[in-house]
Amino acid sequence: MEYHNPVLLNECIQGLSIKPEGIYVDATFGGGGHAKSILSQLNGGKLFAFDKDDSASTNDLNQSGFKLINANFRHLKNFLKMEGVIKIDGLLADLGVSSHQFDVAERGFSTRLDGELDMRMNVNANLSAKDVVNDYLEEDLANVLYKYGELRNSRRIANKIITASKVSRINTTTELIDVISDLTPEKYRNQFLARVFQSIRIEVNDEITALEEMLLSAVELLNSGGRLVVLSYHSLEDRLIKNLMKKGNFEGKVKKDFFGNPIKKLKEINSKVIVATHTEIKENSRARSAKLRIAEKINEK
Ligand SMILES: C[S@@+](CC[C@H](N)C(=O)[O-])C[C@H]1O[C@@H](n2cnc3c(N)ncnc32)[C@H](O)[C@@H]1O
Repeated sequence: MEYHNPVLLNECIQGLSIKPEGIYVDATFGGGGHAKSILSQLNGGKLFAFDKDDSASTNDLNQSGFKLINANFRHLKNFLKMEGVIKIDGLLADLGVSSHQFDVAERGFSTRLDGELDMRMNVNANLSAKDVVNDYLEEDLANVLYKYGELRNSRRIANKIITASKVSRINTTTELIDVISDLTPEKYRNQFLARVFQSIRIEVNDEITALEEMLLSAVELLNSGGRLVVLSYHSLEDRLIKNLMKKGNFEGKVKKDFFGNPIKKLKEINSKVIVATHTEIKENSRARSAKLRIAEKINEK
């Protein structure tokens, strides 16, 4: 089975506007599809790739000018510093989980497969989905479902889950799906379950904070004219990326300095978000919800 089929590959590579001798980062290596393409355009340059999932190392490209770092991209700046890198020419992030992670039942990411309720991208991390559904306070679980799944009946769902978990621990994806079956709308079953799973996954992997930290580091690390290319798959992430690229911060309100100039370190390359073509979506269903945004670091005076 293929590990992962890269989404919007040409658009991402074009967006990076690669200088053959430049230093680049692939923050989300996965199956290495994007990385391979970046590397093919380098001549004297370097590519540092990150993935917090050990299993991605089976795809290591083992080529000169390439290094795969098994770590969370939120620590990007420190890891690059250890490599003697303090400035980069471009960074690509293709967020979320890989097809491989979805397709392995025991990783617990998929609503279609019966597996342990795990959902950790880094299998050595402490918190798993089981902890969230069995040990969180009902109110905290409701907040997770509301904030990260945008589920309006989050309180009722949380109540169902916590009540059931007190009778018997919820250990598998199927058990979780059964517990909330009364609240699952027949017509939107897949979308509903996808949102429940997505919200728990985001909590387990602390995805939003990690993304914010990585983006701020990327902006700091980029040389003037360097590119930030980010692919996201849900509106929460896209909003943060869009606000940062358009307004200079995650809140989305332009802040001004003492002289009234907007505080902004990026300028957008594409003011409209880039999405996949029908042809790509037909061939790769993961491209359906992909949103690509590209920005360039503004000249620092
Ligand atoms: C959508 S896949 C990337 C696929 C890749 N672009 C390719 O062409 O195969 C996302 C990958 O990012 C990794 N990932 C997600 N969040 C991460 C984080 N905070 N730090 C490091 N890796 C992360 C996941 O483990 C997963 O392998």
